[in-house]
Amino acid sequence: MPSHRKAFFDFGFHLKCEGVTVLSKNNVSLRGKNILGLEYFTPEEIELVLDTAKEMKNIIHRDIKKLPTLRGKSVVTLFYEPSTRTRTSFELAGKYLSADVVNITSSTSSIVKGESLRDTLLTLEDMGVDAIIMRHSAEGAAEYATKVVSPVIINAGDGAHAHPSQGLLNLFTIKQHKGTLKGLKVAIIGDILHSRVARSDIWGMRKMGIEVHLAGPKTLLPRYLAEEPGIFVHDRIEDAIKDADVINVLRIQLERMKSGLFPSLREYARVFGLNKERLALAKKDVLILHPGPMNKGVEISPEIAYGPNSAIQDQVQNGVAIRMALLTLTLTGGKENEITD
Ligand code: CP
Repeated sequence: MPSHRKAFFDFGFHLKCEGVTVLSKNNVSLRGKNILGLEYFTPEEIELVLDTAKEMKNIIHRDIKKLPTLRGKSVVTLFYEPSTRTRTSFELAGKYLSADVVNITSSTSSIVKGESLRDTLLTLEDMGVDAIIMRHSAEGAAEYATKVVSPVIINAGDGAHAHPSQGLLNLFTIKQHKGTLKGLKVAIIGDILHSRVARSDIWGMRKMGIEVHLAGPKTLLPRYLAEEPGIFVHDRIEDAIKDADVINVLRIQLERMKSGLFPSLREYARVFGLNKERLALAKKDVLILHPGPMNKGVEISPEIAYGPNSAIQDQVQNGVAIRMALLTLTLTGGKENEITD
């Protein structure tokens, strides 16, 4: 693959899948695997996560949301960037599975006193944690953590590189609504260049046989992606969403406007915003996804965000199920009796 095409996909570093020691469904196991990006997943591994999440989703609907699966395991969320959905859903996922969960944010820890990432990680390791769920502004930060400490590392977003649990929960939501993934047409709209969600979506969707159509401002759309099989790049949002089964709207990152990558919010909404007229170009039963938080009236109109085609609230709930699946599979190997107990 030429170097300019590799650039989009090679954000961060490569990591071989290590520590796969316990067999699970279909002889696939994620036990001990660091979750750094969907580029490091096989389609079978993605299937395993989605199947496990389906079981886990039942727990969220129970009166008593508690499984003993992770009793005796300790999990830390280590967030250097703000988060509502990802951090809270990992915390709830751990608690529903009986893990001991501790949350660290940069503003309330010794990070404000200048403690380095390396020393923070070593401190957590010495305290005996089994998994560290990490969000950081630097691409490759989660992979760096795997070189420094031994607990399972789950990347909860590293700069513009990857947000693998978001990519998985998007696949899970699509599969729950459409019954399948292979052969679907998904449009991803917005700031493709800087979006870790887009990058994880593209990796995961292509591995599962989904056709991906991209549209966004020229300055935020890497055109060479069109050279990849199954990926189509469009100048106009209308061409990307025509006959789409799913439209995945990305959050427009307001700081990009300041750096001149698109002119104004009003202009963005006019040219790339998802509204009723544009929605009519997609399939009648098109599914609308957005990772949140939303800029309503900019990338998506409120009537679509809360309308009948929207699965945005489902995505939030599915995020808990996916994160329960990831914690179970990486920390226990996901033996059947531990899932359904
Ligand atoms: N989708 C997402 O990552 O949301 P948060 O920033 O709230 O975690």
